[in-house]
Amino acid sequence: MPEKYVERVLLTKEEIQKRVISLGQQISNDYAGKELLLICVLKGAVVFLSDLMRAITVPVFIDFMAVSSYGAATESSGIVRILKDLDCSIDNRHCLIVEDIIDTGLTLLYLKENLLSRKPASLKIVTLLDKPDRRRVDIEPDYCGFRIPDEFVVGYGLDFNECYRSLPDVCVLGEK
Ligand code: PRP
Repeated sequence: MPEKYVERVLLTKEEIQKRVISLGQQISNDYAGKELLLICVLKGAVVFLSDLMRAITVPVFIDFMAVSSYGAATESSGIVRILKDLDCSIDNRHCLIVEDIIDTGLTLLYLKENLLSRKPASLKIVTLLDKPDRRRVDIEPDYCGFRIPDEFVVGYGLDFNECYRSLPDVCVLGEK
């Protein structure tokens, strides 16, 4: 298998920080006077969550879900298994799913339908990164940090085989 290496920076930590602050302001305006439950999809979204929650000025609560796709490791199959469910009930609460990246959209489509069946007051999606070229189902984020081309990215929470999550920038992975 070809060796992977960090080829170049796609988004600097300064660009990310600026955009996350702006997303936080937009979300705070939209949810003014309300409380918000941020539902973080493990693991990639934890870095984004930790910055975003501090940029939101309305009262926020956090909870976590872990999911995994059956099938090939590199491609979503659409069949999603819940590895860790929410600790709390979302009945009648304003919920915002926090994702690091939307690729095919299969994970999010499953999550959205699953969570809607629990009767939240509202359910929206925020993603740091969106790869629209890869979409296989009709799902769009309500808030998006950056639309990016179809390149393999790591850093700021995103991994390749569990590596590179701690890089402060979003970087493109190349092959040697
Ligand atoms: C990533 C990402 C989304 C999903 C998006 O998670 O966080 O949950 O893939 O892909 P899709 O739009 O094609 O369904 P991943 O499975 O890499 O897990 P991780 O966050 O733990 O790294």
